[in-house]
Amino acid sequence: MSGQLSGKRLLITGAAQGMGRGIALEAARQGAESVVVHDVQRDSAEETAELVREQGALASVVVADLREAAAISRMVDESVAFAGGLDTLVNNAGVIDTSFLHPSGFDTLDEATWDIVMDVNLKAVWLATRAAAPHLRASDRGPSIVNSASVAGVHGTVSAMAYGASKAGVIQLTKSCAVALAPDIRVNAYLPGSIDTPMAQGHLASGDDRRRTAQRMTGTQLMPRFGSVNEVAQVACFLASDAASFVTGGIYPVDGGTLAWRGVQDS
Ligand SMILES: NC(=O)c1ccc[n+]([C@@H]2O[C@H](COP(=O)([O-])OP(=O)(O)OC[C@H]3O[C@@H](n4cnc5c(N)ncnc54)[C@H](O)[C@@H]3O)[C@@H](O)[C@H]2O)c1
Repeated sequence: MSGQLSGKRLLITGAAQGMGRGIALEAARQGAESVVVHDVQRDSAEETAELVREQGALASVVVADLREAAAISRMVDESVAFAGGLDTLVNNAGVIDTSFLHPSGFDTLDEATWDIVMDVNLKAVWLATRAAAPHLRASDRGPSIVNSASVAGVHGTVSAMAYGASKAGVIQLTKSCAVALAPDIRVNAYLPGSIDTPMAQGHLASGDDRRRTAQRMTGTQLMPRFGSVNEVAQVACFLASDAASFVTGGIYPVDGGTLAWRGVQDS
């Protein structure tokens, strides 16, 4: 199938739902040869894989917990065995403090939450990158890594302190990996603002006052609404494509303009 991602073999972490699923489907629409759908949730991952196949790409599911280093190595090995190689690693999976803490904030943040957020959001990105690098180096199909960071990795976030710190780490890791893997493998990251996914809905429900929480999440954007999964998937797929062949070490907001100013929209 022709398209911007024609012939590419992708591994997308956390692709059972939300942005990971959106990127998987958009990659297939853009002509990817195959998509490995990774997650801890098998049933939803199988649904994503079926949707990918309906778009004309090959698809397989790998179930692995990103908190376990051995599982991450196995995830990469199984992906390569299925697809016959690897051209794109999308480090999408993530978790946020508010999924574990009620209320979530400076006084309630505990070590267990800090550790799981750091392990999934940051350490796993490094481990997956390390495991994938030899396979990406062997690719002659424009290999690259695309990382999901967040605007929360740039500005302060009291209810998601571990999350913000982990995403700041992803931004830094992206740049270091771009340097380390150049010129063979491009490495970029995008920074979503508030995007309508199960994670964002959970965060919205975690506040006492849903309207105020929504205002906090979207009121700092120049476009005061939730972004859609596809609006992020378009950018992720561009970064994975050969159209971005001179783009590496870049950090790209997909945030409705949050990081462009210091303001809050009138409600
Ligand atoms: N939704 C937003 O507003 C927003 C904003 C900025 C950044 N992000 C980032 O975008 C990425 C995708 O977010 P989303 O909103 O689609 O999230 P989501 O919660 O809807 O999906 C995340 C996926 O990661 C998987 N996952 C979680 N822990 C895992 C583990 N230990 N092992 C394997 N898989 C695991 C989940 O099962 C889930 O399918 C995340 O990195 C997130 O931090 C989201």
